[in-house]
Amino acid sequence: MSITILGIESSCDDTSASVLRDGVIHSNITATQTVHMAYGGVVPELASRAHQQNIIPVVDQALKEANVTADEIDAVAFTRGPGLLGSLMVGTSFAKGFALSKNIPLIEVNHLKAHILAHFIDDLKNTYDHPNFPFLALLVSGGNSQIIIVKDHMDMEVIGETIDDAAGEAFDKCAKVMGISYPGGPIIDKRSKEGNPLAFEFSKPKIQGLNYSFSGLKTSFLYFLRDRVKENPNFIEENMNDLCASIQYTIVDVLMNKVKRAVRETGIKEVAIAGGVSANSGLQNAMKEAAVKMGWKVYIPQLGYSLDNAAMVAITGYFKYLKKDFVEQDTAPFARMTIK
Ligand code: KG4
Repeated sequence: MSITILGIESSCDDTSASVLRDGVIHSNITATQTVHMAYGGVVPELASRAHQQNIIPVVDQALKEANVTADEIDAVAFTRGPGLLGSLMVGTSFAKGFALSKNIPLIEVNHLKAHILAHFIDDLKNTYDHPNFPFLALLVSGGNSQIIIVKDHMDMEVIGETIDDAAGEAFDKCAKVMGISYPGGPIIDKRSKEGNPLAFEFSKPKIQGLNYSFSGLKTSFLYFLRDRVKENPNFIEENMNDLCASIQYTIVDVLMNKVKRAVRETGIKEVAIAGGVSANSGLQNAMKEAAVKMGWKVYIPQLGYSLDNAAMVAITGYFKYLKKDFVEQDTAPFARMTIK
């Protein structure tokens, strides 16, 4: 019997809906909110209002594109957390209403696990090579930087994480001090391609074990720019590409050093990257290089599954459906959910 899942994602500033049948994505529609650009970060109240406006048209389009009616959906999976509470509330309420009206099961999804399970998605054109358990995942987004041992679809153990800022935050904050609008990560990535990664050197954090820290790097970048701009007010504009390439090189190097250590310590050589920062070309290249030099098997998300999306929620929902892992209508969103 075939199983059709509707996935709903609304944890931050993307409203997304996806239809997945038996592990294969049939549609993945995302409305990205642009209202936040003027503010240098996501404004929670504006995000929840935009989700309210977007959710019905986005789900409607996802059903149409998949050529599926609401009556053909077997279960609704939604992001329960972590994320912005007001934003999560919109997706959760919609999912509950949909499940209640169609009398179908409701499945809660942990957004962080979903980023990792995006590696198990197939589409109508391709069946992909999926990671084998146990594998390591580097989860890097605007809110998280974690190294995880993935033992099973649902059994995951965090072995390292940031003690302050996330890698995405480091990209965005460094971009902000150069006058780049939010989110600056993708723009740093683009400008890096024209710059010299060794033009400027920034001190790297010295943190024990497998944990990360990015707040010192951001501060040293800020002080470096402040001093240079004092000497030359046009310093940033004149060196933008080199600055982007150098800061990206440093962040990627910090990320990779701990992943290499995690591989050494665990002996696990299958490594997947996930989350918004996994779209970064510097990180992707560093992973591919490690695969060749160190014999790792690396997994890089397919285009469209790095950033927040409902396809990853739907695939997680599918695995939970197979285990009959459902929740009741009194389930509430949870802003601070962790991977455990
Ligand atoms: O996973 P995600 O879509 O959302 C949450 O964190 O919830 O990640 C967004 C983060 C932002 O910090 C953004 O700047 C960063 O991912 N990002 C990138 C790139 N694309 C997105 N950072 C560096 N290079 C990229 N190409």
